[in-house]
Amino acid sequence: MICAVVGGTGWQGAGITTRIAAAGWTAMIGSRNLERAEILQENLPPFVGLPAERFRAASNVDAVKEAEVVFITVPITGHREVLETIRPHLNDEQVVIDVTAPVDPDNHLNEIWPKEGSATAEAQTVLGDEIEVVGAFKNVSATMLLNHTMPPNCDILMCGDDLQTKHQVGLWIKQMGFQAYDVGKSEDARTMEGLTKLLINLNYSYHLNQPGVKFMELQRGMKILPDDDLFKKK
Ligand SMILES: NC(=O)c1ccc[n+]([C@@H]2O[C@H](COP(=O)([O-])OP(=O)(O)OC[C@H]3O[C@@H](n4cnc5c(N)ncnc54)[C@H](OP(=O)(O)O)[C@@H]3O)[C@@H](O)[C@H]2O)c1
Repeated sequence: MICAVVGGTGWQGAGITTRIAAAGWTAMIGSRNLERAEILQENLPPFVGLPAERFRAASNVDAVKEAEVVFITVPITGHREVLETIRPHLNDEQVVIDVTAPVDPDNHLNEIWPKEGSATAEAQTVLGDEIEVVGAFKNVSATMLLNHTMPPNCDILMCGDDLQTKHQVGLWIKQMGFQAYDVGKSEDARTMEGLTKLLINLNYSYHLNQPGVKFMELQRGMKILPDDDLFKKK
């Protein structure tokens, strides 16, 4: 499978690119500037210990034209513009996985929310109904993505409007080394994306090193509430 990473020259893009290559697929590192993509194409494979032929460099538009799956890893401030740039080159057989979080690139303690309510909803609106968008990888650190041989410290939350597409994306995410959970539609993505700032706060407040979100079930033997007897007069 060929995957494009639009804005693939940043930390999160490098992490997603690594996971694509680790899954055995080809990653097209996309950039507004081909030379920047070529530098990462050369430096990333030896850094993460993966075969060089799984990494290719391209402009964002050329990367998108070749790909079956398109990841978006740009800052929120360039999100709408980059989506508008790639839109004419997308077709309805491709899936877009939007990784952009509403974090101000100039101050990670501030959020910048698109008028649609979330980056996922903005992507779905700009790209239109023919393109299926799934928001995912918003709450995982680039460091965790780059460390592809280590056990993950988190699950991957997904939001999107099409159930079948989310199912397919969940299977791809498993191949990328993570358990994925469908946590709602694009209208629910604001809550999911808001977790990113909470994780950044955790990092600052407790010096937790790039924490992640992991879902846990009740342990066996625990009582499942509600127990109606609790509220009845004895
Ligand atoms: N870093 C993390 O650990 C992390 C974790 C969770 C979510 N995220 C989210 O993932 C996204 C990428 O994060 P990052 O840390 O990799 O960001 P970044 O390094 O600031 O940006 C990634 C790439 O986006 C491109 N870009 C920058 N400004 C742009 C603009 N105005 N228009 C179009 N492209 C632009 C640049 O590529 P070119 O100049 O080569 O085009 C840049 O290398 C962000 O939305 C962030 O909130 C990051």
